[in-house]
Amino acid sequence: MAENSGILAIDQGTTSSRAIVFNLEGRIIATAQEEFTQHYPHSGWVEHDPQDLLNTTVDTCRRALKAAKAAGVHARTIGITNQRETTILWDRTTGEPVHNAIVWQDRRTAERCAALKSAGHEPLVAERTGLLLDPYFAATKIAWILENVKGVRERARNGELAFGTVDTWLLWKLTGGRSHATDATNASRTLLFDIHRQAWDEDLLALFDIPAAILPEVLDSAADFGVTDPALLGAELPIEGIAGDQHAAVVGQCCFQPGMIKSTYGTGCFALMNTGDQAVPSSNRLLTTTAYRINGRPTYALEGAIFIAGAAIQWLRDELGIIAHASQSEGLANDAEAEGLYLVPAFTGLGAPWWDPNARGAIFGLNRNTGVAEFVHAALDSVCLQTGDLLEAMAGDSGTAQETLRVDGGMVANNWLLQRLADLTGLAVERPEIIETTALGAAYLAGLQHGLYDSLESLESRWALDRRFEPAISRGAREHVVEGWHDAVRRTLTTGN
Ligand code: G3P
Repeated sequence: MAENSGILAIDQGTTSSRAIVFNLEGRIIATAQEEFTQHYPHSGWVEHDPQDLLNTTVDTCRRALKAAKAAGVHARTIGITNQRETTILWDRTTGEPVHNAIVWQDRRTAERCAALKSAGHEPLVAERTGLLLDPYFAATKIAWILENVKGVRERARNGELAFGTVDTWLLWKLTGGRSHATDATNASRTLLFDIHRQAWDEDLLALFDIPAAILPEVLDSAADFGVTDPALLGAELPIEGIAGDQHAAVVGQCCFQPGMIKSTYGTGCFALMNTGDQAVPSSNRLLTTTAYRINGRPTYALEGAIFIAGAAIQWLRDELGIIAHASQSEGLANDAEAEGLYLVPAFTGLGAPWWDPNARGAIFGLNRNTGVAEFVHAALDSVCLQTGDLLEAMAGDSGTAQETLRVDGGMVANNWLLQRLADLTGLAVERPEIIETTALGAAYLAGLQHGLYDSLESLESRWALDRRFEPAISRGAREHVVEGWHDAVRRTLTTGN
């Protein structure tokens, strides 16, 4: 293969779309990013315009491909990674969405989930899907659209409509409507997919009253998904890798051995522990999910999902207007005196291990000296303390205490945050050289399918450490902060956990 081959990774996230061209060594050659509008029609509701997701994707791909070409690198294949669970239904003939995308953070189906729970359905759902009855996942979002948009249920039954998470929507559009497919990781987030049989589940479709006719075909994470319409990207390029963003990050972080954990800091924070070919059920309210599926063989993970991480800093910047740039947070936190101050960022409820969709954010311990720096400190602390809760739950489920945590995502450029994360979790925190690990994972999957790499495991040696942060506070000091945090969380819960 010529030296100038590259791979285009599409990373369609919650607040922006990104396109990155990597060379075959996994170095970034070109990158483009665009934010798009978030729609909040009611409290707790979050929507995206599917057309915005597509337009920003196409635009960033064109820009990245052009810049890579100028640098002498030609993308041979495409990998897609995406915000998960976000739900879109569209007309198979016109390609028109029947409603805005209902975003993973959206809580409009909290009541529906509570009703299904009290009717005793959660054990079956958890056993088959590894998930819980929470509005986070796609099924109740699909059901909401079927029930609330006029005429849609009948059109769905007649096979006129297609459902997809964001990967499927982009694939459909990028291939000119020729491919209606997803991968096993995205399917694993719908509440409709049996992760053990790796197949859509008829009992669950009946439970949520969703017609099978709308579902995409489920393929491996490295597979032949289709070929792009040349009218969009200027060439016919194969799409050969798809994985939900957190699953792609497992691949990008080369967490291929059971027991390895990565934690990604984007809008939310998601920690996944590889559990090999065992789908380990959680006793600590974590999720069991497909980490990736290659050659028909699923590798599983335990996952802790928290909804607000980077979004807490965005909130300080965009809603409170007390910082101008997220990058200021490092210096400000360093200068803060924030003993006893806790922000519980339950803006869209709380995820693992609390799972309280009705909780809302709160701040505790304000005093006369609390200023901007202290707010920033408390926001970053909340990211570390929530991660700590996930790691503790993982240690409980796996029976082994971890020693290291691989981190990635935009926020991990912040050294103060990573030192604090090491201090408050008691684990050594490792930052790799490439922190765009999600996109890198999608590129690896596409490269694997295209024959540019022999196996995922052969990529292990490419993982390179940038910096390791060791815990530097005493166990007593850590426990003191964690106790205060749990007290603050308990005061925001509505579920009496
Ligand atoms: O499950 C939601 C997750 O996939 C969103 O990721 O990177 O937008 O926080 P991110």
